[in-house]
Amino acid sequence: MNDASPMKKQMAEKTAGTAGANGSALRLEKVSKTFHQGENDLAVLQSVSLNIEPGELVSLVGPSGAGKSTLLHIAGLLESADKGEVWIGGKPSSKLNDLGLTSLRRSTIGFVYQYHHLLPEFSALENIVLPQMLAGIDRQVAGKRALELLDMVKLADRAEHRPGQLSGGEQQRVAIARGLANAPAILLADEPTGNLDPETADSVFAILVDLVRNVGLGALIATHNLDLAARMDRTLRFEHGRIS
Ligand SMILES: Nc1ncnc2c1ncn2[C@@H]1O[C@H](COP(=O)(O)OP(=O)(O)O)[C@@H](O)[C@H]1O
Ligand SMILES: [Mg+2]
Repeated sequence: MNDASPMKKQMAEKTAGTAGANGSALRLEKVSKTFHQGENDLAVLQSVSLNIEPGELVSLVGPSGAGKSTLLHIAGLLESADKGEVWIGGKPSSKLNDLGLTSLRRSTIGFVYQYHHLLPEFSALENIVLPQMLAGIDRQVAGKRALELLDMVKLADRAEHRPGQLSGGEQQRVAIARGLANAPAILLADEPTGNLDPETADSVFAILVDLVRNVGLGALIATHNLDLAARMDRTLRFEHGRIS
């Protein structure tokens, strides 16, 4: 990785461009979400507001069942809020139709799950090329970028391996690279090292943090691990539907 990297330059430009709108990579304003289950109403998010600046690395901690995944899914435009507004890179989302949401999600949001969700029949490289092609990027350009991302997660020599030929930590590093494929404004990660043994979790997390810092994008990362959370710029504690 060097300073002249086209990937880094593109991400920096994109982040700078999106920051112009209101200076924020991700903003939630009074977001509420209630699940209705039979007779019961479960108010998972109660008027949650938060703001993440470009380049800011923020952890989201809270007990299991607190609503961290729901919050990330709503921030990632994978699920809709009942009330409130979500801005990604300065763009409001609540009035968009499905097509508009998909397009905004593809171009501005990177998502990393606890499980890698890589396509088993495709190589590591192809798994990073595909989301770019879905966003309309030329195959050759996408391939070059995918290799650069694999290099950033220290897996350039595993480009042709399929997920089944990689270790758990390596699979998750490919998933992280894939999350950055379309140069997002914000990276959302839901317990990205939760399936790994402590030592591997530690090294994968270090790579994730380096990568996010290096390209200067905003990141919101849910984790159970308070040691990992402490390595970020700021921690949001989430409990009983609210951020304390
Ligand atoms: N689709 C759904 N329908 C009903 N309840 C749900 C749904 N998704 C999540 N929940 C409930 O919402 C609460 C928060 O879940 P979740 O966001 O997964 O929490 P966390 O990620 O912090 O463990 C849990 O009690 C869960 O059972
Ligand atoms: Mg969860």
